[in-house]
Amino acid sequence: MNYRNILVTKEKNIAIVRLNRPQALNALSSDLMTELADALEACDKDHDIHVMILTGGANVFAAGADLREMSDAKTINSTLESKSELWERIRKISKPIIAAVSGYCLGGGNELAMSCDMILASESASFGQPEVNVGLMPGAGGTQRLPRVVGKQIAMEMVLTGRRITAEEAFRIGLVNHVIPTENLMGEAKKLAHEIASKPTQSVQAAKKAILRAQDTTLEDGLQYEHKAFSTLIGTEDAREGMQAFLEKRKPVFKGR
Ligand code: CAA
Repeated sequence: MNYRNILVTKEKNIAIVRLNRPQALNALSSDLMTELADALEACDKDHDIHVMILTGGANVFAAGADLREMSDAKTINSTLESKSELWERIRKISKPIIAAVSGYCLGGGNELAMSCDMILASESASFGQPEVNVGLMPGAGGTQRLPRVVGKQIAMEMVLTGRRITAEEAFRIGLVNHVIPTENLMGEAKKLAHEIASKPTQSVQAAKKAILRAQDTTLEDGLQYEHKAFSTLIGTEDAREGMQAFLEKRKPVFKGR
């Protein structure tokens, strides 16, 4: 596929999707978001790809929604509607997505990183929800995902002040998994991606789905869901192979079945 705002490369079983609209600091225009949703869905359908890395440039992951596009009152309603469908398509991706964040990760950029399943941050990354500074508020999940990740008090302070926080602070409040020297960011992201990509794909995807469910259901419903998913998984060829290989003290050979 030829994309204009993103670059997609593949390495063994992982795909690297890079936001590539540097002239606007990777602002998430409708065109960029459409390409991103298309690319992630294509990776989700591609049997050779097990894990995706979503990244930006060295100085910016994404500076948020495209304020130029959003300031056009004539098209704003249709833009907002089609945008929320695009965010929904990204939310439904079943394979794991690792965000590798360097530089600015703001507004919709931070919301995009939080839509991923793990976040690795370079030492130079900074995070924030600055929408309040332009008379807006987070509009792509920030008021819902941020408090679930960092708690109400901290989410409130970040959203109501619009202040940026450093990668170290983001780590301290649990927004990111690891802080990594900038030059090693992609290397570490790939290492993590390859590690997960080597696991049986059905286990990984079922576990991702169950963990996401924990964020929006009761404990009882979540436990029932987990029990069902576990019961399905135990009948797969990969589970039989994994357990048999353990008992025979050999390396398992997983087939994704
Ligand atoms: N939308 C559109 N264009 C943007 C943009 C955005 N969010 N952020 C930066 N740009 C553009 C600038 O307009 C500028 O373009 P020109 O060269 O054509 O003037 C170019 O990118 C470079 O930007 P700056 O000159 O501002 O770069 P800087 O290094 O001085 O500052 C920054 C960097 C602090 C990230 C600053 O650009 C900034 O504050 N950007 C806006 C951040 C923001 O408010 N994000 C929230 C958007 S709303 C949102 O995301 C809603 C939602 O929840 C979905």
